Amino acid sequence: MNHPLADRFDGAAEILADIAARVPDTRDHLKQTRRTIDTYHPKRLDLTVAAIVEETTTSKTFRLVGPDDTPLPPFLAGQYVNVFTDGTSRPFAISSSPARLDHYDLTVRRVPGGRVSNLLIDTLAVGNGLRTTGPMGTFHHNPLFHGEDVVFLAGGSGVAPAMSMIRDIVDNDLDRTFQLVYGSRSAHDIIFRDELDAIAAAHPGIRVDCVVADPDPEWDGPIGFLTADTIAGLTGALNDRMVYVCGPQALYPYALEQLAMLGQRRRRIRFEANGAPADPTAQPHWPADVDASEEVTVTVGATSFRTPRNRPLLDALEDRGIQVEAACRSGECSLCRVRICKGAVHNADEARLRLSDKQFGYTHSCVAYPITDVEVDI
Ligand code: FES
Repeated sequence: MNHPLADRFDGAAEILADIAARVPDTRDHLKQTRRTIDTYHPKRLDLTVAAIVEETTTSKTFRLVGPDDTPLPPFLAGQYVNVFTDGTSRPFAISSSPARLDHYDLTVRRVPGGRVSNLLIDTLAVGNGLRTTGPMGTFHHNPLFHGEDVVFLAGGSGVAPAMSMIRDIVDNDLDRTFQLVYGSRSAHDIIFRDELDAIAAAHPGIRVDCVVADPDPEWDGPIGFLTADTIAGLTGALNDRMVYVCGPQALYPYALEQLAMLGQRRRRIRFEANGAPADPTAQPHWPADVDASEEVTVTVGATSFRTPRNRPLLDALEDRGIQVEAACRSGECSLCRVRICKGAVHNADEARLRLSDKQFGYTHSCVAYPITDVEVDI
């Protein structure tokens, strides 16, 4: 053993001899690592609809299973999968429990004019296949930063991730206090009502308050919107508890305003945005002199087409059959990143761009609006 260290350290010669005598490691570590990553974080899942539950007149839960009943990849309560259909995709939060990986439940509510929600509700049947991403997203509980006493403000199908969090607490017997304040238009629109009531009755740490905007005469619960007064009346002082918010787009600015009135710090509020902003022109930095409905020209390689300025670039590309990888469709995950080689886009407030994205002309196409003719590199 002629290694220079062998003479200078006690035992070094023996260690080197031991190393030399070992059978060389010829395993393909890259392949093994790839297989492990694909098991836990697959890019795509091919699932089958095993059951459909009609939750309300406007919402259904689709139970999805993997091939041969294999367990599905683990997820954290609050995460979503992106569903691919009809040349586009939409993210849907998983409403089932992370403790039960034989299925994922996706609870879908009709969105007026919604291309994918209506398609799924009207056409998806038991036995149909559905292609999704693996579970994704950062809207989940983090005990280190969020604490064990949390509030969740939900509107409409925004109750889906809350349901998963509640089922997680029940199935895993978590020592967590969870208060759901759930706003619906009418009592008939309350999704999971019976199960939520039953869980709250059986678990003192879980409290559920439904608030109805347009009540029937027999409704005896709180009424109206999720105003600061209503929230405070139900939750008491927030005392810096983490507040999660999930629901239709309009809920976010509204809830932020109401929570700010209650003195809640912005960093103690977590949002799950559902899609691009409905009206990007309402954002403060939309240029004042630009007509949102006018069309501009988008050029990708040899293809050029016209699209209105107020259509998200990702949607405009998909309209032309140009596929860009996407998941959250709300500016967060960065999968839909493209480079604007020429021209300008309005980056919505929701876009979580990095400094380098801005420096080198990258944008999150799901929340970028072309305000001039643009050339795009995808
Ligand atoms: S799809 Fe996630 S940032 Fe655009």
